[in-house]
Amino acid sequence: MVVVIFFVRYQNMEAIDSGQYEHIVFFTGAGMSAESGVPTYRGRGGIWSQYRWEEYACREAFDRDPEKVLKFHEMRRKTVLACNPHEGHVSIASLQKRHPRVTVVTQNIDGMHQRAGTRNVIELHGSLWRLRCPCGGRPEEDIGGKYQRYRCKKCGGWLRPDIVWFGDMLDQGVMEEAIAMIRSCDLFVSVGTSGVVYPAAGFPRLAKENHAWCIEINPEPNGLSCLYDQAIRDMAGKALPGLFDSSSLQGKNYPLHKHGIYQNTNRGESSDDVQ
Ligand code: APR
Repeated sequence: MVVVIFFVRYQNMEAIDSGQYEHIVFFTGAGMSAESGVPTYRGRGGIWSQYRWEEYACREAFDRDPEKVLKFHEMRRKTVLACNPHEGHVSIASLQKRHPRVTVVTQNIDGMHQRAGTRNVIELHGSLWRLRCPCGGRPEEDIGGKYQRYRCKKCGGWLRPDIVWFGDMLDQGVMEEAIAMIRSCDLFVSVGTSGVVYPAAGFPRLAKENHAWCIEINPEPNGLSCLYDQAIRDMAGKALPGLFDSSSLQGKNYPLHKHGIYQNTNRGESSDDVQ
């Protein structure tokens, strides 16, 4: 079988008629928020080129010095609060209001999709805006530059950011939900991820199980680019607003839903597996 992969530059691409697709999944990484001013993780200026994750983003670091790890995350919260969603975030949110089935699966912990108005965001790596106690219970929303509390009301122990750090297991329920969404989509759009962190590498293959058309938006190619049917070598904020033909949905009226700014409404009880 001959597999033909088309690499189409955005400039030459016709807008997609979203009405042709039943379920559209956006899978986003740090590059999605880069134009908002939130640093990516890898590459020049990336968070892991300035900070050693071994000191700030793993269970061992938190056990050694919880205050240092919490202060690092407060610094990241302040950075994100000084940023705003860009046109790309807004265009995904507005497509979701016009189309019956648009799902966002994100590796980002910054809450930008929710701030732009996207609802039911599946947050694979947790959120900067929640804390949880290793003694159990539901993660609690905590918004602001500084954390409202460092200690658990019940056990007095240190609260930790509800974030999947290096060496942590992904929340099984969140992962299952993401997989179910990706397996059932017929258009899969990956935006701004290097794809080096599990499970991102498997996602385009999963989407292909349903014969989804797979598009990658990223100015730089990476090891996963060959899995996509189409590559848009451009920035998220430039590529996304023109990606869909809005006229194809005129006349349809899907209800708007209220949403919490940072709330991930899909999130249930935290799994004991997530450390
Ligand atoms: N638009 C689109 N893509 C961009 C843009 C932009 N404006 N700017 C940068 N990119 C791309 C880069 O080319 C790179 O491929 O975004 C990607 C960012 O890659 P990473 O920094 O590795 O971020 P990500 O893939 O989200 O990392 C995955 O690693 O450290 C962990 O938990 C952390 O969620 C994170 C995970």
